[in-house]
Amino acid sequence: MIKVVGLMGSPRIGGNSDMLLDAALAGAMEAGGSVEKIIVEKLDLHGCRECDSCMNAGTCKFRDDMELIYKLIDELDVMIISSPVFFSGVPGQLKMLIDRCQCIWARKFINGEKIGGGKKRVGGILLVGGRERTHFDSLILTFKTFFISIDVELMSQLTFASIDKKAAILDHPSALKDAKELGSKLVNLVKKRE
Ligand SMILES: Cc1cc2nc3c(=O)[nH]c(=O)nc-3n(C[C@H](O)[C@H](O)[C@H](O)COP(=O)(O)O)c2cc1C
Repeated sequence: MIKVVGLMGSPRIGGNSDMLLDAALAGAMEAGGSVEKIIVEKLDLHGCRECDSCMNAGTCKFRDDMELIYKLIDELDVMIISSPVFFSGVPGQLKMLIDRCQCIWARKFINGEKIGGGKKRVGGILLVGGRERTHFDSLILTFKTFFISIDVELMSQLTFASIDKKAAILDHPSALKDAKELGSKLVNLVKKRE
């Protein structure tokens, strides 16, 4: 079974990122994926303290909901992240999760491990912002860096600018359809690998 993990990065549950991710996961499920959705806002997380204890051990010393995320990152075939732009960056809750993956970075870049056992893993991002398109630039760079660190290849990205109010994405002519297609495309890419 192709394992698809969706990270919903907005603290506004039922908002634009949430709807986009639901559409993408529906597409992934239709294509045959087994999907798991994580609402980052609901996780109990600490921020990275840069204590460097992960540098040799490859594990984080904190015990919190990141234990579930680490397990999912090891197991997944497809990762889909949806996020709003906050001050041209990633919302704090999601950034905390990403920073806590420094131990995975250490496993890969210090211990030479292949995350996910070396199988081809693919990812997609769904980004939404209230203002102009340039605000996505640093966000995209953050996700590219994150995906490289966890051995997921970023294959698809969709950005929706000028979408501000809660659920305004519903007025976009193609956003949910596009997101659904992204989900099914990523699962089909993994199928080709098998
Ligand atoms: C704290 C905060 C910062 C924001 N910063 C930006 C920004 O820099 N650029 C932008 O285009 N939109 C910005 N927005 C608007 C959100 O990206 C926009 O409302 C988006 O639709 C929220 O998506 P959601 O419903 O998934 O949370 C900001 C919103 C908040 C609450």
